Amino acid sequence: MKLWGGRFETGPSEVFERFSNSLHFDRRLLDADVRGSQAFARSLARAGVLTEPECAEIVAAFDSIRSEANSPRFFDDAEDEDVHSFVIGKLKELVGGLADKIHTGRSRNEQVSLDTRLWLRDECDHARELLRQLIAALLDLADKYPNAIIPGYTHLRRAQPVLWPHYLLAYFEMFMRDHERFADARRRADEMPLGSGALAGSGFPHDRDAIARDLDFHAVTRNSMDVSADRDFALDYLYAASVTMIHLSRLAEDWILYSSEEFGWMELGDGVTSGSSLMPQKKNPDSLELIRGKSGRVLGALNSLLVTMKGLPLTYNRDMQEDKEPLFEACDQVNGCLEMARVVAESVVLREKVPADAADASWVVATDLAEALARNGTAFHQAHQIVGRLVLESVRAGKKPADWDAASLAQFAPEFTPELARLLDPREGMKTREITGGTGPAAVASALIAARKRLANLS
Ligand code: ARG
Repeated sequence: MKLWGGRFETGPSEVFERFSNSLHFDRRLLDADVRGSQAFARSLARAGVLTEPECAEIVAAFDSIRSEANSPRFFDDAEDEDVHSFVIGKLKELVGGLADKIHTGRSRNEQVSLDTRLWLRDECDHARELLRQLIAALLDLADKYPNAIIPGYTHLRRAQPVLWPHYLLAYFEMFMRDHERFADARRRADEMPLGSGALAGSGFPHDRDAIARDLDFHAVTRNSMDVSADRDFALDYLYAASVTMIHLSRLAEDWILYSSEEFGWMELGDGVTSGSSLMPQKKNPDSLELIRGKSGRVLGALNSLLVTMKGLPLTYNRDMQEDKEPLFEACDQVNGCLEMARVVAESVVLREKVPADAADASWVVATDLAEALARNGTAFHQAHQIVGRLVLESVRAGKKPADWDAASLAQFAPEFTPELARLLDPREGMKTREITGGTGPAAVASALIAARKRLANLS
């Protein structure tokens, strides 16, 4: 169905029609389009444009369009320019000339804003649920190895020992922020645009608050020109999705490394790894590599829409139709990756001894020793120098921390009092970090309990 034409002497060229058609992708908004159109019909009835029986007939027809929409051949042979035209065409098949009234004073500019907002609200909820499940799996993985020690890294060099749950709780924080960001994006999308017309506001007396209540929006938009011009809500979603993907790709990268033969800390489940068609021994972390790889597509989607919107004159421009494919693409990728990451997390087996040995074999305790010297009264810079020399001497002699004891330490530098020797064990130094947010065992245990509570309280 064409929603325009009177002003033209000839129809669009076949090339232009093919070029500008969006039905093959915006059909994803069909459900939202129908729900929005039903609410619009009810509003037209309240405004006296439709009679109650006409409105009832239209709403019922939309119901049947909605239920038919899942049948595989529903869109076959459709030649409509977009989903909005398509839906009205379907309505016309069902109710005839009455369908000509549904678009009274309505513009596709406000309609596409409404549809996208309705769709996005649901997708924000979906992403939040997938995040919740991933976060739960990460906490389960932390609980499986409450006392495991790993070397924490900076510059991908062994830095200081941390508890395995402490490491996972870092991702807990990131994904909880992502959860908030999707809630924020949802709040931004949750404003009802109908009644804005093409750009100047509707010429019919709609009760916009009633439409908002009908569609469960928390508020109505406040400026009709802004409605036609605005895609901030889509950008907000894409930003939330992009940051989530950055977190997922960092987790993926960590675990690709940790499960490598070089690290050897963890085993990924057979179910989330692939073999090689040539090398029989291979067990490749493809699930994680794909998460890392797909992050590029989502970041690309955000960039794509940012660049599309930049410098567009107010209000609506057809450029804005190009928002949908990046939006749908980002949505598919972030949802798929969140689900995949959860399944990988459920499959992880930590070989606790390997990272613990790695911590023992390196000088991750150096900071603990320097800080202990400082607590005993040596100025920190001097303490840093003393321990630095101890590490240099050890590296030259091929000594690990465990190759030292109280006597040899005291001989190396008189500042090393006997009780400091226990800090050669990484587990001991961690006990000095009982500070909120630190890796002290008691701090981590209570952080885990707090994390469980925060997870349970997620709305
Ligand atoms: N399909 C368009 C879009 O997604 C909505 C229609 C508005 N078109 C128009 N020519 N005003 O942006």
